[in-house]
Amino acid sequence: MTERFKAFRVHTIDAKAVCRFEQLTLDELDPGAVVIETAYSAVTYKDAMAARGVGKNVRTSRPCVTGVDLSGVVASSTDARFKKGDKVIVTNYKLGTEQDGAYADFARVPGDWIVPLPAGLTLYEAMGLGTSGLTAALAVDRLERAGLTPAMGAVAVTGATGGVGSLAVDMFAKCGYKVVAISGKKEQEGYLRSIGADSIMSREAFLENRAALAPSLFAGALDNVGGIYLDRLAARMHPAGKLAVAGMAVGAELTTTVLPLVLRAIDILGINVSRQLHMQERKRLWSRLATDLKPDHLAEISRPIAFEGLDQAMDKFFDASTVGRIVVEVGSKALK
Ligand SMILES: NC(=O)c1ccc[n+]([C@@H]2O[C@H](COP(=O)([O-])OP(=O)(O)OC[C@H]3O[C@@H](n4cnc5c(N)ncnc54)[C@H](OP(=O)(O)O)[C@@H]3O)[C@@H](O)[C@H]2O)c1
Repeated sequence: MTERFKAFRVHTIDAKAVCRFEQLTLDELDPGAVVIETAYSAVTYKDAMAARGVGKNVRTSRPCVTGVDLSGVVASSTDARFKKGDKVIVTNYKLGTEQDGAYADFARVPGDWIVPLPAGLTLYEAMGLGTSGLTAALAVDRLERAGLTPAMGAVAVTGATGGVGSLAVDMFAKCGYKVVAISGKKEQEGYLRSIGADSIMSREAFLENRAALAPSLFAGALDNVGGIYLDRLAARMHPAGKLAVAGMAVGAELTTTVLPLVLRAIDILGINVSRQLHMQERKRLWSRLATDLKPDHLAEISRPIAFEGLDQAMDKFFDASTVGRIVVEVGSKALK
């Protein structure tokens, strides 16, 4: 295909990230056996970092089409597992960081990265979920497998208004848990209740008690924030509580004690949906996302923006003012 199409690329110029819309041909994209016509993408913290040159997650040696999540329709394939017209999802792996990604009318990717769109999800809903949904689903799944049940007590979610947090609040509530949403956004209390939170705890109230073992509050938890938040969650878990750790919105450092582990025997479970997550496991989780874990309030949690509005959506991630998931309308209307 020699026709030109629209792409949002990041260039590194004088050690600074410069992003802009450009016209590319398919041959200018990184190689891959499957060509996908992109329908939707999303904006995550990782995308914002790439667009603004924060951190080192995107290649700087040559321009890169960013966008780490996509849903779309196969346009052509030399991989026998996929054929023209198949609806598919790609999240993570090297998409939008080391390989040209989702912010273009077309993407070329290896077949090994592709998940067929499960029955029960539209292409739009798949991006309402995306990496954030997969992360929340993996956390619910791992906590349940570790033995957590609603009868054991409440579940806490930090960074509750974020992409992962919002979807996790909904999924835990759907599974029958009482969810305590921990958030810095007092004005979003109504939103958090509307998506399934049973109660809201402000960041200040949550951080107030600094005892190594504070009075216990939670049977389960998902931490999206790290640092002092992870320390405080560990100190607040019931005996044998299960704590899943997905994020580091506040930073990677952690200062804590071993007391919750050795005196309350809590379990701490790591969550990682990057390329380490095996394809079989990825497909199983997407199948849950289309059925028993499909959020009841996905339409409220995700909101669409036009492809042209992409650049303006990035900066909100740096002052933690985003709420829920931003879905980017990339492709032609006919795909939707
Ligand atoms: N482990 C994995 O495989 C995986 C996958 C995807 C994402 N992640 C990570 O998970 C985290 C959440 O991702 P996301 O997509 O949900 O991000 P997001 O949409 O930007 O949400 C992060 C939320 O964290 C809270 N927050 C942000 N800065 C904070 C601060 N300085 N102090 C306290 N709270 C703060 C805010 O929620 P409130 O205002 O409600 O408090 C914010 O909305 C990120 O660190 C991301 O890198 C990990």
